[in-house]
Amino acid sequence: MSPRILAVLLAAALPALAQQPLSATLSIRAGESGPQVNRQIFGQFAEHLGAGIYGGIWVGENSKIPNTRGYRNDVLQALRDLKVPVIRWPGGCFADEYNWREGVGPRDKRPVKINTHWGGVTEPNSFGTHEFLDFAELLGAEAYISGNVGSAPPRELAEWVEYVTSPAGSLASERAANGRKDPWTLPYIGLGNELWGCGGNMRAEYAADVTRRYSTFIKVPAGVRIRKAASGPNAEDTHWMEVMMRDAGRSFNAIGLHYYTITRNWRQKGSATAFDESEYARTLQQTLRMDDLIARHSAIMDKYDPQKRVWLAVDEWGTWYDVEPGTNPGFLYQQNTLRDALVAALNIGIFTKHAGRVKMANIAQMVNVLQAMILTKEDRMLLTPTYHVFEMFKAYQDATALPLELKSPWYSSEASNIPAVHASAVRGQDGRLHVGLVNVDPHHSVALSAALAGAAPKAVTGRILTAPAIDSHNTFEAPAGVRPAPFTSAALESGALKVVLPPRSVVMLDLQ
Ligand code: AHR
Repeated sequence: MSPRILAVLLAAALPALAQQPLSATLSIRAGESGPQVNRQIFGQFAEHLGAGIYGGIWVGENSKIPNTRGYRNDVLQALRDLKVPVIRWPGGCFADEYNWREGVGPRDKRPVKINTHWGGVTEPNSFGTHEFLDFAELLGAEAYISGNVGSAPPRELAEWVEYVTSPAGSLASERAANGRKDPWTLPYIGLGNELWGCGGNMRAEYAADVTRRYSTFIKVPAGVRIRKAASGPNAEDTHWMEVMMRDAGRSFNAIGLHYYTITRNWRQKGSATAFDESEYARTLQQTLRMDDLIARHSAIMDKYDPQKRVWLAVDEWGTWYDVEPGTNPGFLYQQNTLRDALVAALNIGIFTKHAGRVKMANIAQMVNVLQAMILTKEDRMLLTPTYHVFEMFKAYQDATALPLELKSPWYSSEASNIPAVHASAVRGQDGRLHVGLVNVDPHHSVALSAALAGAAPKAVTGRILTAPAIDSHNTFEAPAGVRPAPFTSAALESGALKVVLPPRSVVMLDLQ
């Protein structure tokens, strides 16, 4: 047969082939117990950057936008519904220039500074320590303060921790005079941010010594526990991890890892909404690198800390695209599509797989910045597809990871070749089995058959997040276009779970 005739025949067959579901098999060892999936992997990051704080979270008590003591009511409610477990603040790069003293006391007396990292705009300091810690309390979230190690002496950080946590002394009196009598709970303190970059451009060897030094002076009252988080590596910088663990590992209880999903390159990252299928596939392939990065860094940590005392905290992750046209390049404001929802679900699956070491993660960022949960425009708010994934996976918080094996078909587009199906499973605190599934193939359904060793559920229900196109997204005019819907293509047949996963979808199943 000539190649031309073959091509014509193939072209004729393609539409029919596209209708054929692919198939995958999954085996979940539901009777076994893996590590706990810390709720803190659903953590968030809120930096003084663009409208991340001002306008997005904080509008002030005198705003026309409905608020509670200055916090937007709509954003508060949306975040409460998400059960945000922990919030990292005030940066990011902002943290290593921040002077906490400028953000306490009467708001009209606080100095106005320049946010040199993010757009060179004025920083009114009206959202400071009290505003952040009250915000966390209002949400029922834990606080993770990222301290200034790059440009402030150790005493400044030590006094900040004392101001927040001490029941007595001058700093506690000052705190009381500023409106807060009782100490706050401060479970996490960050020892600088990206010390290899905006946090001071340090070499790993120097950063390890600096980390030891700053850690020494962080003291909390007897009976109070604080977890110190070191500034960890940038993506694949294993030298950084090696040196920090070897030379400073006894000085911290957690170490960060920052990895952003960049589709093209740092100079031209590509649009958040205008992309073709090859760029879509590339984004997903890039995000899946997280699995290998965690495995490599964990192997180094295992060498120095086989007991897994030190948490790996992926305290910055998410997609980073070019800013929306017409917006301030320093504000990192980007839209969020179904592609970002898949990115979020894939990363949550990876964190679940590595739950024995990854004990915290903080998506960048909470509101209006990078892969945000929420976008705001004056008095309007929308929930992004990423928000919906976090909401769908809520049952994973503090659940027990279950071991599994998956055989997936491949999805290819130009240079990218990745598994189409991704799966994770947990035994939730509610005692139920929850199975998170992602089909990244934008064209094909996948028929998945799952064996459930050690469990005999009687019923399955589910929810799905999908949309007509890979770039579907919510807008202020149509804020609910992409949102979860009930999922009915899952059934239990002779003890096995049978699911038909639609193209480009995230599915969460609940078995009982
Ligand atoms: O999240 C935006 C920035 O990315 C953070 O400020 C910094 O830590 C990272 O480089």
